[in-house]
Amino acid sequence: MFTLSALAFVLSGFFCVQITLGAPIPHKRDTSPYYVTYNDEAATPPDPQDIEPFNMVNLAFLLSSGNGSDVAGKWEQLSDSDRQSTLQQYEQAGIQIMVSAFGGEDAPTTNGLNATAVADSMAQWVIQYGVHGVDVDYEDFAAFGDGSGPGADWVIAFMKALRQQLPQGKYLISHAPIAPWFKTDGGPYLKIHQEVGDLIDWYNVQFYNQGSAYTTCDALITTMNDTNNPALMEIVANGVPIEKLVIGKPTSSADAGSGYMSPTDLANCLAQAKQQYGYDSGIMNWQYHTDGSTLAWIKGVLGGTSGSESSSKRQLVKRRLVRRLSPW
Ligand SMILES: *[C@@H]1O[C@H](CO)[C@@H](O)[C@H](O)[C@H]1NC(C)=O
Ligand SMILES: *[C@@H]1O[C@H](CO)[C@@H](O)[C@H](O)[C@H]1NC(C)=O
Ligand SMILES: *[C@@H]1O[C@H](CO)[C@@H](O)[C@H](O)[C@H]1NC(C)=O
Repeated sequence: MFTLSALAFVLSGFFCVQITLGAPIPHKRDTSPYYVTYNDEAATPPDPQDIEPFNMVNLAFLLSSGNGSDVAGKWEQLSDSDRQSTLQQYEQAGIQIMVSAFGGEDAPTTNGLNATAVADSMAQWVIQYGVHGVDVDYEDFAAFGDGSGPGADWVIAFMKALRQQLPQGKYLISHAPIAPWFKTDGGPYLKIHQEVGDLIDWYNVQFYNQGSAYTTCDALITTMNDTNNPALMEIVANGVPIEKLVIGKPTSSADAGSGYMSPTDLANCLAQAKQQYGYDSGIMNWQYHTDGSTLAWIKGVLGGTSGSESSSKRQLVKRRLVRRLSPW
């Protein structure tokens, strides 16, 4: 995988006076804020400027059968050199590429698959195709059932095996549970967090598709007065650190059954959450569209927060890098 060593080699020629290697290069983001989008649509990798200010792109989806479908399948089919150059361009822009595992149409536990074997094969894929990590979008609803089903134990075994192959510090692993899976009464992700939360870098929490829930700042951030649909701070109260919780929302009302909020409303909620609770974990988006609507969405959402500040800092470093590295 192309990483720091190749970049360092090139930089050492140009930058030896200004920069100590390893310090200011936006190579690997393993701290929040995470600005995450899922690409299930663009057949070829979008240019980095059509992704920023997102700093994480999840290729959808890597299936438990071992192969990518949709955009993850397209990633498999790229030539090695096209994959390398995409990774290089994205790294220069401070964007990381992960693969999203399972998705809504894959039910590995219900289908009786072996968690360890699936984890091993997915880790192999990550290494072979050079991405920065895995987003575990496990949506085997039947296996979770009312919370007493086998799903949680399956995810725990899967996660332990996955981390063994993709060590912390070298690869990122996020999960993408729906918010109700963190509820006090039988929320399977509370058990998962208790057992393997230290192996998970962060959660892209789906605060949508839950009827009328999660469309006001109160309901999203503070309390909805409904224990089945915990708000962000109620999930924190249930034991998950706020730094690991990234609020997920659809780009438009067409991208989810319910739970859409306008970028302006969402920006207001994020500003409140930041002011009241120090929330600065980021934002997750479902899903990336090539028509510019997702870019307009993220720019609207980050308009009023520190996101624009860190993004402009990143732009500055990126512009310097791109100018210096133009021989590529
Ligand atoms: C996965 O893709 C490879 C390469 O195209 C193919 O040989 C293999 O049969 C596929 N596996 C499954 C389970 O579809
Ligand atoms: C699951 O897969 C692992 C690794 O391939 C293997 O060691 C283990 O025996 C399998 N477990 C079962 C119950 O088949
Ligand atoms: C929940 O109840 C509290 C106290 O009555 C109220 O302030 C808050 O707005 C309610 N939340 C929602 C989403 O209605």
